[in-house]
Amino acid sequence: MKKVYLETFGCQMNVSDSERVASVLESDGFEITQNEATADVILFNTCSVRERAEHKLYTRVGQIRNSEREKPVIGVLGCVAQLEGETLFSKSKGIDFVLGTKAVGRISKIVNKVFEGEENISDLGEREEFYNWSVSPTQQHSPFVSFVPIIEGCNKFCTYCIVPFSRGREKSLPADLIIAEVQRLKDSGIREVHLIGQNVNSYRPKSDQGMEKFNGATPFSRLLRAVAATGIDRIKFTTSFPRDFHEDIVDAINEFENLCNWVHLPVQSGSNRILKLMRRGHTIDSYLRKIDKIKSSARDISLTTDIIIGFPGETVEDFEDTVKLYEYCKYDTAYIFKYSPRPGTPAFEMSDDVSPGEKTRRFLELEKVQKPLLRDSLNKCVGKILEVLVEKESVKISSELSGHSTCHKVVNFSGDKELLGKIVNVKITESKSNTLFGEIV
Ligand code: 5AD
Ligand code: SF4
Repeated sequence: MKKVYLETFGCQMNVSDSERVASVLESDGFEITQNEATADVILFNTCSVRERAEHKLYTRVGQIRNSEREKPVIGVLGCVAQLEGETLFSKSKGIDFVLGTKAVGRISKIVNKVFEGEENISDLGEREEFYNWSVSPTQQHSPFVSFVPIIEGCNKFCTYCIVPFSRGREKSLPADLIIAEVQRLKDSGIREVHLIGQNVNSYRPKSDQGMEKFNGATPFSRLLRAVAATGIDRIKFTTSFPRDFHEDIVDAINEFENLCNWVHLPVQSGSNRILKLMRRGHTIDSYLRKIDKIKSSARDISLTTDIIIGFPGETVEDFEDTVKLYEYCKYDTAYIFKYSPRPGTPAFEMSDDVSPGEKTRRFLELEKVQKPLLRDSLNKCVGKILEVLVEKESVKISSELSGHSTCHKVVNFSGDKELLGKIVNVKITESKSNTLFGEIV
């Protein structure tokens, strides 16, 4: 039996694709291994969203090439594969095949071809209709939490972003399939699903099938209600696109307790001028109206965002607007990125004129705003009772369990491992760095 080691970089969509790739390989007679040293095949599921992510691939292939071990088959999947195609064979020696973002279902076929002696194979083709969508239980990233893709690709073409090129146009999966998948996961013991997509709230399936009984102002809020009606314990969703974030999503959260109280709504910048250059399709005013609706909910919805600092032409005033917006929104936390020029995007043609030193300065300044707000958002939980899904034993301390609250905060507490997979009430007693600590009540 050939052994396959699979390493994943990047977003949840890649994690989810990797689970599918591993499941397909497993059902075709390969063994998935966690041991890179003895693997016959090493696969990299790659990310190209920033330069540094892309470089990880070249570093890792170089490490394998220069190691003493017998040369394994090396395959590249994901966004770098899709964008670079056959050029990867000359860019990084040692790669045997390249499989694009929609071709992942054909993984076994391509690996077998390499073993039959074919060289430098590339498949960037479209997905086959019969592509197996399900993840085998052994290949889930968690025994209790599952990622369910509902929309793939992106049509938004924000000027800095490579994703519309690496993942192609938006394609919504049929609602009846999604609902049946959530039902199947629930029946198999999964407690929490994350509906995932580059822009989940741009969900627009070809038909209503599966959602006929459900009201809602947008197909996405109808889907949320339909998924909630399966009765699965918890539903989270990422990422939301501000322009398409209809307030009815908040209404749905208010109506269904199993729709979790967490919204990730990337703003990217607090300056209208920069948002326009980014072609985001929202203004600060339109964004803040949505934030106000989220904050008006009785559910105490936790709010997170993505921010890019140092976009071409960003002045100190533009950056200060981002700081002000951050302080107004009081995000629970944020992913802050330094702008990274991506070849092929419109922003790549603009001058990357904020110096690396200034990008670092702005990054650190924004972090100084982020950290105390993160602390506040955690401290606010102290004394409260949160519902926590017990996901794993703590790596550091035995008899310590760890999980997430409905508002997606990490909570650690003492307890028996029999509790794994259960949802328990934890009284929060303390917050330290990024984590809450508490006692089961
Ligand atoms: N440079 C820096 N950050 C980027 N992102 C996307 N493209 C770039 C880029 N070229 C960030 C955005 C997005 C997140 C997933 O990655 O903030 O929301
Ligand atoms: Fe990239 Fe914008 Fe699409 Fe998000 S919405 S994936 S930032 S192009």
